[in-house]
Amino acid sequence: MVTNDILKIKNLTKKFSNFVAVDNLSLDVKKNSCIGFLGPNGAGKTTTLKILTGLLRPTSGAAQINGYDVTKNFRKAMLGVGAVVETPEFYPHFTPDDVLSYFGRLRGMSHQEVKGRIQKVLDEVNMSEWSNKKIGKFSKGMKQRIAIASALLHEPQLIILDEPVSGLDPRGMMEVREIIKAMKKQGKTIFMSSHLLVETQAICDEVALIDKGKLLGLRSISDLQTSSKSKIKIEMIENPTDFQLDAIKNFPQISDVLQDTSNVITVDFEGDKSNRADFLKFLHDHSIQVISFSLVETSLENIYKELISDSVR
Ligand SMILES: Nc1ncnc2c1ncn2[C@@H]1O[C@H](COP(=O)(O)OP(=O)(O)OP(=O)(O)O)[C@@H](O)[C@H]1O
Ligand SMILES: [Mg+2]
Repeated sequence: MVTNDILKIKNLTKKFSNFVAVDNLSLDVKKNSCIGFLGPNGAGKTTTLKILTGLLRPTSGAAQINGYDVTKNFRKAMLGVGAVVETPEFYPHFTPDDVLSYFGRLRGMSHQEVKGRIQKVLDEVNMSEWSNKKIGKFSKGMKQRIAIASALLHEPQLIILDEPVSGLDPRGMMEVREIIKAMKKQGKTIFMSSHLLVETQAICDEVALIDKGKLLGLRSISDLQTSSKSKIKIEMIENPTDFQLDAIKNFPQISDVLQDTSNVITVDFEGDKSNRADFLKFLHDHSIQVISFSLVETSLENIYKELISDSVR
């Protein structure tokens, strides 16, 4: 059967003694997609990624990469995937050239093949100039880029990254983000974990939400951004009068109004873009002079609440 799914996870469960770290998780990832695997600390993200890359065996369930089962057909499955799951620790006296030749040999690549690929992958992570420098002097972000380069060495189609920007400074984060976006453009499939929604929003097309080992749902980023329930923060030139506040409270899409400071309010809003535009016009019509009108980022917690209530319904 021809399938467009590069990664198929079916009823995956991992128990550590009696503790269920991954709970009957099923998810299909299409070729060329970029999915953020999002969840709070301890949700089971790393455990899942370790199973996908053969570092852990599942208690039950299965996962396939390119149609090959990661436990039963480990070698063939691993040909299709490049991963950075554990924080990379390199021997400080080694250079990127040394490290990548070593990984290339482990992968059974010929000397010639490795040489060509090293240049290519170092280029992709913008580290060509550092190929002969000792890694001991590298920043965390540079080490992360070398780890990504090593994951790209054998030209896998699926890239698995565990919290690729966590612990990096803003510049390091930006560099790694750009590299991931470039891989995406080249047609790679990206499956990366994160505990920050903003992070996944900046890179991915879809988000798979996990909590307590369970998959809560798969949402497109654009869906999340236009989620019907939101909070809007409004800053006004003057403090609103009681009459104006009452009018806002009675606006059809508003369920609650919170006065943050005398001239700033946050409203709970249930409606789409055009409702929001109507609301802005309404403020203007009520002689409320607005300095700023912005959607407050939907917190991970709110999305979880919405997803959980959706699944209960
Ligand atoms: N080897 C292990 N033995 C026992 N429990 C473990 C083991 N590995 C993970 N766990 C537990 O499984 C749960 C999921 O851990 P996991 O590392 O997968 O979470 P995570 O989503 O990656 O969290 P974080 O955001 O903190 O990295 C946690 O409660 C953790 O304590
Ligand atoms: Mg983790």
